[in-house]
Amino acid sequence: MEGITHKMIPFNKASLSDIEKEYVLDAMETAHLSGDGKYTFKVYDFFKERFGIENFRLTTSGTTALEMAAILTRIGPGDEFIVPSFTFSSTVNAFLLRGATPVFCDIRKDTYNIDESLIESLITDKTKVIITVDYAGIPAEYDKINEIAKRHSLLVVADAAQSVGSTYKGEYSGNLAPISCFSFHETKNYCMGEGGGIVVRPDDLDRADIIREKGTNRRQVLNGMTDKYTWHDIGSSFLPSDVLCAMLYAQLTRYDEIMEKRRNIWYGYLQGLENLEKKGFFQLPSVPEGIIHNGHMFNICLNKAKDRDDLVTFLNGLGIKAYVCYVPLHSSPMGKTLGWDTGMLPVTEFCGGTVLRLPLYADMTYSDVSEVCDGIGKFFREYSKVSGGKM
Ligand SMILES: Cc1ncc(COP(=O)(O)O)c(C=O)c1O
Repeated sequence: MEGITHKMIPFNKASLSDIEKEYVLDAMETAHLSGDGKYTFKVYDFFKERFGIENFRLTTSGTTALEMAAILTRIGPGDEFIVPSFTFSSTVNAFLLRGATPVFCDIRKDTYNIDESLIESLITDKTKVIITVDYAGIPAEYDKINEIAKRHSLLVVADAAQSVGSTYKGEYSGNLAPISCFSFHETKNYCMGEGGGIVVRPDDLDRADIIREKGTNRRQVLNGMTDKYTWHDIGSSFLPSDVLCAMLYAQLTRYDEIMEKRRNIWYGYLQGLENLEKKGFFQLPSVPEGIIHNGHMFNICLNKAKDRDDLVTFLNGLGIKAYVCYVPLHSSPMGKTLGWDTGMLPVTEFCGGTVLRLPLYADMTYSDVSEVCDGIGKFFREYSKVSGGKM
């Protein structure tokens, strides 16, 4: 591998500074180790001031935020939910755990988000919820999806795990659907190790607090609204330790720095790979008009599954951890047990075979970005030779 050094480039690395250490230590020293301490509320203030997001509650993960959302919708056995298959298992599991049935919807080839033009054909008298996923931090087509939901009296739940800080027509993710779920996992733009958050409608807030506190009215007791601590609903332990919230708050004090670094890397890739795209080797991501994304992920879409898989192996050989993000859920072992299979969602299946996620993290250097782009260029030069110029 002449000319290319063998340094490891991971696919993700959390950006941690002295501020995270200081706030985490402070949370420990003030001995508020359980949930809903001062850092939890500082995070809420940040979300309100920065994004205009209210009715926000932190959770132990994006997964449990989705589980809370599913409980809030009161979905149950006999109900259906429409959901993309090109997503993480948690998006579907949360609703499956309530006994509801997934109806998988194909995705758009440009954004890999749910194809809003197909949603209406999937609605039956059992449909209760439409779930969107803001893949790679690019919000779904909310105006159209919310309009369809309104016309059919359905609820939209946004799996906004990846889109913290992204905007759609000037509105921040979290305010685009009646219920939105974020992730603050280590792999996300702003992290607390494991963690998430849910934004709910004002009318859902009291019930959300009860569900989040093991089905009890503990929040009302702490707020002095009642003196009896009692069981009111189903629920679980969905609130994260304030020590982790201190880490997240520290990350949010670095909000602009992290956002700018990630977006610069994203556009660095776009520039660095432009020429290879022009040669027809792959397609670069496209961002629909009206969206400002958060630089969460950079994907390229190869022409064939074999090209993608060979490129992953080649890059891994160079120490570059490129990553296949999603194996579609409908054709996975669990999807098959639900009656789904390969051949049912053509765009999802094409993208599942051809999309490749490149390393992207805030502290990645421009030389790392060049190294990844050079590695991809080298792959296509060698590949062209082997295939006699036919790709
Ligand atoms: C689209 C999507 N939904 C849900 C999740 C689950 O989030 P968490 O890992 O915080 O549970 C993820 C995490 O990768 C995700 O990407």
